[in-house]
Amino acid sequence: MTVPFLDLRASYTSLKPDIDAAVSRVLSSGWYIGGPEVEAFELEFASYVDAAHCIAVSNGLEALQLALLATGVQPGDEVIVPTHTFVATWLAVTQCGAVPVPVEVCADTYQLDPALLAEAITPRCRAIVPVHLYGISADLDAILALADRHGISVVEDAAQAHGSLYHGRRIGAHGSAASWSFYPGKNLGAFGDAGAVTTNDANLAARLRKLRNYGSSVRYVHDEQGFNSRLDPIQAAILRVKLGHLESWNSRRREIAERYQCELVGTGLVLPKVTTDSESSWHLFPVRHPQRDEMREALTAAGVETLIHYPIPPHLQRAYAGLGYTRGAFPIAEKTADTVLSLPIGPAMTDAQVTTVIEALRAATRAMERVE
Ligand SMILES: Cc1ncc(COP(=O)(O)O)c(C=O)c1O
Repeated sequence: MTVPFLDLRASYTSLKPDIDAAVSRVLSSGWYIGGPEVEAFELEFASYVDAAHCIAVSNGLEALQLALLATGVQPGDEVIVPTHTFVATWLAVTQCGAVPVPVEVCADTYQLDPALLAEAITPRCRAIVPVHLYGISADLDAILALADRHGISVVEDAAQAHGSLYHGRRIGAHGSAASWSFYPGKNLGAFGDAGAVTTNDANLAARLRKLRNYGSSVRYVHDEQGFNSRLDPIQAAILRVKLGHLESWNSRRREIAERYQCELVGTGLVLPKVTTDSESSWHLFPVRHPQRDEMREALTAAGVETLIHYPIPPHLQRAYAGLGYTRGAFPIAEKTADTVLSLPIGPAMTDAQVTTVIEALRAATRAMERVE
């Protein structure tokens, strides 16, 4: 049996009649930018994450960039970001003209380490961006308390956290704003690029609505130099259909994660830690092993597809060579990049496929023990 990392087509084929009807409704409506589908999705997603406002935008990178701009980040400001994240978290900061200040993550939860935050805050620091990486919630209580003491904003990168809980409340409006990606592979994914910002702050929401629309709230009147970053209504209509299934899809992800957590004990793999404050939506299921590359090859040979999130930390990317970091600057992020591996997880996976992954991992780790 082969196990693909992700079966994206299944999310279409399983909902084909509803998706086809939604797309054709938009095509027949004459509304091809903004309009009722986008507004309905904004209301429904805000309600799902329990936020007062949702502003739909073109993608997750722009969602974070616009959220940072709206909270007042300006060129030359500093913004704290995790050392271990997808590069888009850093790109959003630098696209505001601000400087990313990297802070290491905890080696077991992969989330921003609150114990290291205080020393990273300077008078130029304007915001902290916790990333709920892999679907595991960051330690928001500690981060929010520190930000509050320093009068700076917390903008959550929730691109991987659709349906994740923190203290029993969905991620979406714990900080000043949360940015979302609906990239097709996400727990809630469009069939193209899509994103959003959620917030409880009405002023922030109004600014975001302007920023995504050329800086304008009245046609041909421009209060600031904004962007064209609008969600298209076809994607909004598709997301509305899929949102209705997100909870059951996340439940299936949790069942699979539970099996991995129980049945991979004793294999020598480092399994992800989720604190009692947090309930993960398991966008990804990361494991770590010192011989990650050999293990990955053995899994591939056994028909199990895996991916690495992420093989090069942002501070070692050529794009950020100008910041002057070299290898050794952030050992936890570097070690994570060298040893982490994402296992297949998703609502379309069968029990038999999960068993195949577990057995392949047991065999691969046993074989590596024998070689040692
Ligand atoms: C943590 C994180 N931040 C930001 C993004 C950017 O989202 P998008 O791909 O929609 O621009 C992603 C998506 O891949 C992500 O995983």
